Amino acid sequence: MMSVDYEMLARQFDALADGDEHPLALSANFVALLYAGIPEINWLGLYILRGAELVLGPFQGLPACSRIPVGQGVCGTAIETKQTLRVADVHEFAGHIACDPLSKSELVVPLVSAGQAIGVLDIDSPMEARFTAADQAGAEKLCERLVAALEKNQQPMKEFI
Ligand code: SME
Repeated sequence: MMSVDYEMLARQFDALADGDEHPLALSANFVALLYAGIPEINWLGLYILRGAELVLGPFQGLPACSRIPVGQGVCGTAIETKQTLRVADVHEFAGHIACDPLSKSELVVPLVSAGQAIGVLDIDSPMEARFTAADQAGAEKLCERLVAALEKNQQPMKEFI
């Protein structure tokens, strides 16, 4: 499996974020950069917390479910627990929500700002066990950078997108 240079992706994201970007523009570029830079994936996008559900945000891949209740599926569980979920085989995850039948493994990282979960990054792969601990650490760092850029460009951060 090809390893990803997450440090380079982080530097590229910082360059993209270096300006007065609107949160939607920032998030859309974040998603496009990661989708282009991470091999062997079929979907990558953001879900944004709105009340008790996650709403689909910028993404790359096939159309996906537009709303996920907090507590349901991999994304809803990750935001509820504020913990990254790295699922080697989505069919083994009780309650997994199948958007693209090709997806076999999944990595979901919560976006946390000032202790509050505001959304998740969801990455799907058609390969089983695609995501390693290094992918998890890299994606978590990138999500921290996204949140930092959102906070910097929108003070106070009332709304994410
Ligand atoms: N599989 C996710 C739903 C989102 S799609 O994969 C894009 C889940 O179980 O939360």
